[in-house]
Amino acid sequence: MIVNPKVLFKHAYGNYAIGAYNINNMEQTIGLFRGNLESQAPFIVQISKGARAYADKRMLEAMLRTADQIFPDAIFAVHLDHGDEETAMDCIQSGFYSSVMIDASMKPYEENIAITRRVVAAAHQKGVAVEAELGQLGGVEEHISVAEDRVHLTDPNQAADFVKRSGCDSLACAIGTSHGAYKFTAKQGIHFEIIAAIQKLLPGFPLVMHGSSSVPKDEVNRINAAGGKLKDARGVDPTEFAKAAKLGVIKVNIDTDGRLVWCRVHREHLKEHPENFDLRPPGKVFMAEFTGYIAAKSRYLGSAGQLEAVRRTLN
Ligand code: G3H
Ligand code: 13P
Ligand code: ZN
Repeated sequence: MIVNPKVLFKHAYGNYAIGAYNINNMEQTIGLFRGNLESQAPFIVQISKGARAYADKRMLEAMLRTADQIFPDAIFAVHLDHGDEETAMDCIQSGFYSSVMIDASMKPYEENIAITRRVVAAAHQKGVAVEAELGQLGGVEEHISVAEDRVHLTDPNQAADFVKRSGCDSLACAIGTSHGAYKFTAKQGIHFEIIAAIQKLLPGFPLVMHGSSSVPKDEVNRINAAGGKLKDARGVDPTEFAKAAKLGVIKVNIDTDGRLVWCRVHREHLKEHPENFDLRPPGKVFMAEFTGYIAAKSRYLGSAGQLEAVRRTLN
C-alpha cells in the first residue's frame, strides 16, 4: 500500500527511522519489497532523476504499481530523490508520488526558500509531502559536486527559519555525511551536536539523513578480491542510526550500499562461473542477497517489526 510518508514519520518519530532506498530496476525492486516484508518494516522507495532517465519514469511507476499487487502487505511511500523544480512538479502532477524532494541547497538561501515554497504550494494542493535540503553534503550528488573542503553543514538557526518560511514537511540536513562510497577520512563522522541543536529548535519536526551508506569493509574487500578496484573507504556506522533517530532523524537515505551488493554478487558470480553468459543466475543471487541486506538495514534502523503497528494507525 502506497502511503504518505507523514504517516510513517509520525509513527517513527523519536523511536526509529524509516529506510529510504533508491531503485533503478526490477531486481532491486523485488529484493527491496521482500527484504522489508521479511523484516516487517515500512519503507520508502526513492526514485532519482537519473533513475527516471535510465529506466524511463513510466517503467518505474508501472513496476512499483505491480510490486504493490505482488506484495499487498507492504506499506511504503514513493519519493522523488534530489529533485529539481521541474522534475518535482512533474512528479506532483503525475499523481503517483506520495512525496518529492526539492533540492535547491546549492542555491543562495533566499532562492532555496523561494523555490521550495513554489514546490510546497503545488505539492500540498495534491496531498504530496515535500522534503527540502539545507546545507551541502560532501561528495558528488547527481547535479552538484561539492569539494570536501567546501562542505557546508546545516546551521540550526537557519534550519528553523527555513522550515517556517518554506513550509516543507521534512528537512535534509548536512550533518557530516556525504554521498557515494568515499565518505569519511580518519576523524570525520556524524555531527550529532548539529542534529541535537536542530531538534531543540524544531521539536517534533522530521529530519532526514542523506549519505547514510555504511560501505562495509567486507563488501569492499570481496569486490576487490573478485577483480574490483575500489579504494579503501569508510561510511556511516549503522549502529549510530538509533542515536540519530532519537534526535528526530526519521528518514535514512541509502543507495550506495545496495550498489556494492550488486557489484559484489555479479563480480563473484562471473569470476566463479566464467562459462556463464545468462543474466538470470546472478540475478537470482542478487535478489536473495539484496533481500537479506534490506532486512539487516531494517534491524539497524529499528523499523524491523513495525509494519503491523503502522498498519493499525491507518485503520
Ligand atoms: O544521492 C543520490 C542517490 O544515490 C541517487 O543516485 O542520482 O545516481 O541515481 P543517482
Ligand atoms: P549513499 O550514497 O550514502 O547511499 O546516500 C544515498 C542518498 O543520500 C540518496 O539520496
Ligand atoms: Zn541524497
